[in-house]
Amino acid sequence: MVWAIAGSALLDWRRSMLQLGGRASSLDWLLDLQGGVSWQALQRARLAPDQALHLRQGLADLEQIWREHLTSQRPLQYLVGVCPWRDLELKVAPGVLIPRQETELLIDLAQEICPNPGTASPLLWADLGTGSGCLALAMSQLYPEGLGFAVDQSETALQQAAWNLRAPIAQGRVQLRSGSWWNPLQDQWGALQVVVSNPPYIPSSVWRELEPVVREHEPELALNGGPDGLDAIRRIADGAWQALAPGGWLLLEHHHDQSETVLDLLEQAGLDTVSAHQDLEGVKRFARARRPLLNAGGRRCL
Ligand SMILES: C[S@@+](CC[C@H](N)C(=O)[O-])C[C@H]1O[C@@H](n2cnc3c(N)ncnc32)[C@H](O)[C@@H]1O
Repeated sequence: MVWAIAGSALLDWRRSMLQLGGRASSLDWLLDLQGGVSWQALQRARLAPDQALHLRQGLADLEQIWREHLTSQRPLQYLVGVCPWRDLELKVAPGVLIPRQETELLIDLAQEICPNPGTASPLLWADLGTGSGCLALAMSQLYPEGLGFAVDQSETALQQAAWNLRAPIAQGRVQLRSGSWWNPLQDQWGALQVVVSNPPYIPSSVWRELEPVVREHEPELALNGGPDGLDAIRRIADGAWQALAPGGWLLLEHHHDQSETVLDLLEQAGLDTVSAHQDLEGVKRFARARRPLLNAGGRRCL
């Protein structure tokens, strides 16, 4: 069903909703995703307020979701049940982290590298801490001939990832593995050519101060990275040399103030070609490193 409404009436409704509270960007997200009225359409309505817009869901329903969001502080994505991410639309539900926009950049970083073909065929990749499966799904698009492994310690996350990975592009080409970081991938150690991870990296003291919409509703396991935020990254860096194939790449997301330490950890772990990468605001939020290639004699060459 489609509801036609004059642009001016929709803008009035939007104003009255914002008077109740909340962020304009969140309300516009709801209007776009659930109502089918994009931000661009809203801008056009400001220029031509008499023109009709078409809503996919009635204003009464949208208002109910908005009020619920304001009173319960539950994230809109959980209330709506979906989250757009890159060119994908992912199912999201309480118990699993809502994919963040900045994490999309990990896939751009993966796209830039040229995995060493090595001897493994198909190309082997992994996503450590898969959550909703957003990175795993994008990796299966990026490497349509590859075989991937999506790891998580949370059974709720693995269930949701399984649902999202039912997409035809990933069918039969991504295995879900339950356990901690590299442990459930022991049968692939030494063969993984590209590994991405957005681990929990928020220092505990910062996590305790997060706004309720995040701290009270998104899983602590996905966010709290321990006293300095680096518990998970240390574990991942420590196991990387053993688990990656020679010439295999590791790509990590981290907190805004961890770049230097993360690069050090990766170097100490014996990886090379270590580099920092910025998010869209110019902050170093990603690290990339490679297990050195073997030389002809089978020794590590730097
Ligand atoms: C920041 S979330 C990332 C989720 C998803 N990859 C994304 O980018 O939206 C971190 C994920 O790591 C998982 N995790 C936490 N500790 C873990 C561990 N020891 N081993 C494997 N996964 C873990 C959490 O359950 C969560 O799904």
